[in-house]
Amino acid sequence: SKAITGFQPGFLWGGATAANQVEGAYNLDGKGLSTADMVPWIPKEKRGLGFAMDVTAEYIEDVLAEKINDRYPKRDGIDFYHRYKEDIALFAELGFKVFRLSINWARIFPNGDDAEPNEAGLQFYDNVFDELKKYDIEPLVTLSHYETPLALTRKYNGWYSRELIGFYTKYAETVFKRYKNKVKYWLTFNEINVITHSPYTGGGILVGQLPEKTKDQIAYQAAHHQFVASALATKLAHEIIPESQVGCMLARMQTYPVTNHPDDILEAQRQNDLNLFFTDVHVNGEYPAFMYRYFAENNVSINKEIGDDEILKQYPVDFISFSYYMSISVTTQGEREQVAGNMIEGAVKNEYLETSDWGWQIDPKGLRVTLRDFHNRYGKPLFIVENGLGAYDKVEEDGSIHDTYRIDYLKKHIEQMKEAVKDGVHLMGYTAWGPIDLVSMSTSEMSKRYGFIYVDQDDEGNGTLNRSKKDSFAWYQKVITSNGEEL
Ligand code: BG6
Repeated sequence: SKAITGFQPGFLWGGATAANQVEGAYNLDGKGLSTADMVPWIPKEKRGLGFAMDVTAEYIEDVLAEKINDRYPKRDGIDFYHRYKEDIALFAELGFKVFRLSINWARIFPNGDDAEPNEAGLQFYDNVFDELKKYDIEPLVTLSHYETPLALTRKYNGWYSRELIGFYTKYAETVFKRYKNKVKYWLTFNEINVITHSPYTGGGILVGQLPEKTKDQIAYQAAHHQFVASALATKLAHEIIPESQVGCMLARMQTYPVTNHPDDILEAQRQNDLNLFFTDVHVNGEYPAFMYRYFAENNVSINKEIGDDEILKQYPVDFISFSYYMSISVTTQGEREQVAGNMIEGAVKNEYLETSDWGWQIDPKGLRVTLRDFHNRYGKPLFIVENGLGAYDKVEEDGSIHDTYRIDYLKKHIEQMKEAVKDGVHLMGYTAWGPIDLVSMSTSEMSKRYGFIYVDQDDEGNGTLNRSKKDSFAWYQKVITSNGEEL
């Protein structure tokens, strides 16, 4: 029979992290500050349904002048900078084929616009890649994961400025040349669509500095700069590393209609289109027509330079990667209970789904839906580079951690992933988010844990930083050795 029965041999199993959430050492060995270093810890009572990471220019200046003294957990991470050997040994024990990490741009170019790169920063990633090589773990490297050099924010207002394209491509060229024999898989921008929800997070942009412009105007202009930068980085990667494979990265916001009212169907389609616009550009090399209509109706005008369209067209990505944590439901039919919706305003409760401790609606089958949709829309190889459950863990007296809820979440998602593969979806790999506990992106909490590996550190930054295995460790190990057959 021609039917596909499971994951292809060589399927890339692993885990994913971001420099600013694990490394720490924020001011060591010549590293400059990044936007993430200015994001404070947000106590629970101040947290809304969505996203609270946008800071203002005044806030940044006050922090730098030491007039404010909040806590900034991303500056310390989990000290991966000094413990990467121990951590990578644990990843090897898990059986990782791939490890997704990001390069902290400000470690390489401390101000973003420096004439020369910082050698100590380059050396650090050489060490990390060499360590991975010892265990035959492929690195999958994100060039920009919510950690724009802060100097680029203060001097240019981040990606709103076209000048960032040049700084980014210089950085990309520097690391491609340096690591050409060590890194084959690259991602250009983490969750590139998030810039429209949080311009500071995604683009290092302070919208308050542009009071005459709408958030959409600012964000889509900046996204255009990132699209051009992404295409140019793809071109450079292919020139410098002929066997390289470059992917875009989307925060997939799979959206469902709550009812079968045609208006709900259209509203869900509209939300899905606004989300998939970002992959459309990366794959098809052009803006889709529905987006020009959206721009016209929302008074957005994109300033493109001559040659931009050709660049997008000439250098599409090799594969599509994305994060998937939850699905989102929307309705035009009356009031419903609002929920955390991956930053989508108006997300409402799906009565068939359970939610995580952080109110995210858990939907394994939604992952199959998403994979099938991607496949039908693009026919390109797909890579799930983030998925997982942020949860509170309890350490028992003997030190064990029985995270059955995490195993349950991952098992159900991997099952659906396998169904999608059987449906004919071309899936390259799967990297679970935060294989080792790390600092939360949205809240800077330590207690929102994703790991198979526990890190002894609390929300206040107390703890030994010791690493230990949760029950999910042995489980994921088995998933990998059986290539997804034993769940
Ligand atoms: C993704 C980000 O949006 O979600 C990660 O790329 C992040 O950086 C992950 O950590 C989970 O979100 P959170 O807020 O639970 O850390």
